[in-house]
Amino acid sequence: MRKRLVAGNWKMHGSRAENARLLDELLQFDSGAWPAAAAVCPPFVYLQESARQLKDSGIALGAQDICADAGGAFTGEVSAAMLKDVGCRYAIVGHSERRALYAEDDRLVARKFMAAQSHQLVPILCVGESLAEREAGQTEAVVARQLDAVLAVIEPEALVEAVLAYEPVWAIGTGKNASPEQAQAVHAFLRGRIASHDARIAAGLQILYGGSVKASNAAELFAMPDVDGGLVGGASLKADEFAQICSAL
Ligand code: 13P
Repeated sequence: MRKRLVAGNWKMHGSRAENARLLDELLQFDSGAWPAAAAVCPPFVYLQESARQLKDSGIALGAQDICADAGGAFTGEVSAAMLKDVGCRYAIVGHSERRALYAEDDRLVARKFMAAQSHQLVPILCVGESLAEREAGQTEAVVARQLDAVLAVIEPEALVEAVLAYEPVWAIGTGKNASPEQAQAVHAFLRGRIASHDARIAAGLQILYGGSVKASNAAELFAMPDVDGGLVGGASLKADEFAQICSAL
């Protein structure tokens, strides 16, 4: 049985007070009763404070991004060592918003993946196609290219301490999730691609689905055999909704 995870990507939302309140509310839910691991990814500036709040809880901390470089003259960036230092367990790499809005290419994403692992952070590697790419029948080609860029620079063994997330761009923040069958098809494709390198590692890899996951659709998405949890944006900003999604797993 594969491990399962629900991670909340808070994106650039909230204030110091609002985020503290959200964590407080989340901590009231009995995370011990959730069948899955849960994590939240607040904005960088709130990570340290969030870590203090989450200490000794069942909820892990993640960063929304990471610098590919180790340290030095990289104005505005945050290194893997710093994220580890403040208590992160996960780091999202290659989110479609980073790729689209900040011109992050496959090579940079692969370097971020390695930077995370160099400090024992678990990378959550995001892949996903745009609507135009889906309509042009390029979904598999796009996610394969994004995945292969990472596989080109790591040993398959590195995937044991990593998480993959399929996030179709057209489903992010639109309220229109991929159907369970659409998600399953891409998850199975990704797992198959990794199996061509190492079947054992592919069988154990957690592949999350992200894109308009809500309490109302989580159970049917998570029921798919290759969907091992969710990467949740908007719905992770409401404690009761996020808790319901965790329970659905
Ligand atoms: P939404 O759940 O708001 O669609 O966002 C998904 C996402 O981008 C998570 O990383």
